Amino acid sequence: MNSKDTGQTDLQRVRETFDAWADRYDASVAKGGGVMEGYDRSRLRASRLASVHQGMLVTDIGIGTGAFAEIFAQQGAQITGVDLSPRMLEICAARHSEWQVFVGDFLHIPVTSASQDLVISSFAFHELAVADRAGAINECMRVLGSGGSFLLVDIMFEDLSRLQAARERLRDSWDEENYPLFPELSELAGQLSLEIRLEVLSDVHGAALLSRR
Ligand SMILES: C[S@@+](CC[C@H](N)C(=O)[O-])C[C@H]1O[C@@H](n2cnc3c(N)ncnc32)[C@H](O)[C@@H]1O
Repeated sequence: MNSKDTGQTDLQRVRETFDAWADRYDASVAKGGGVMEGYDRSRLRASRLASVHQGMLVTDIGIGTGAFAEIFAQQGAQITGVDLSPRMLEICAARHSEWQVFVGDFLHIPVTSASQDLVISSFAFHELAVADRAGAINECMRVLGSGGSFLLVDIMFEDLSRLQAARERLRDSWDEENYPLFPELSELAGQLSLEIRLEVLSDVHGAALLSRR
């Protein structure tokens, strides 16, 4: 995880972290403590920002064991999952044999350009170094057809003072990472000529919906 932002995402370190965590991942997030407080509710609330229809093609980046994509699959979406961690993907594939899953990352999505209706991602974007975030959004937009959107839910904050208040409240259970702030995401959207809708989901979670102007 990128507690110290060194310029580029350390993909090997992130992969090793999640490969090692994979078998305990679901049980540990189900407890929902610290910055994962309200994890189930935030994914559900974020999912409502996108309209889903039967047969819709949805790609989840950082799919993990599949928890966010499940919400869309239940509404009839066809799921493609991409993740850096082969072990997380193995668990996901064992649970959802009807989904396509590929090893890949935010900057290299192994999916055809303009082929998807929606790209989603939950609790993975903050793992990217700040310098890689514009490239990651660009890569997500590449795989979207016209009219497609990128829906992101993560540990994120309206501004630095809210982040500091959450860090103070959670104290010992706070996990220090480079969490996105709304102004950072708005600036990236502006640079990439995208529209952005930002929504506060709780005092530790937020969502962003990015689409072409
Ligand atoms: C905290 S887990 C979230 C998993 C799932 N989306 C969820 O909400 O439960 C983060 C996931 O993102 C993956 N990940 C982290 N950085 C990534 C990157 N740069 N590209 C693709 N996947 C990444 C990790 O391997 C891990 O499976």
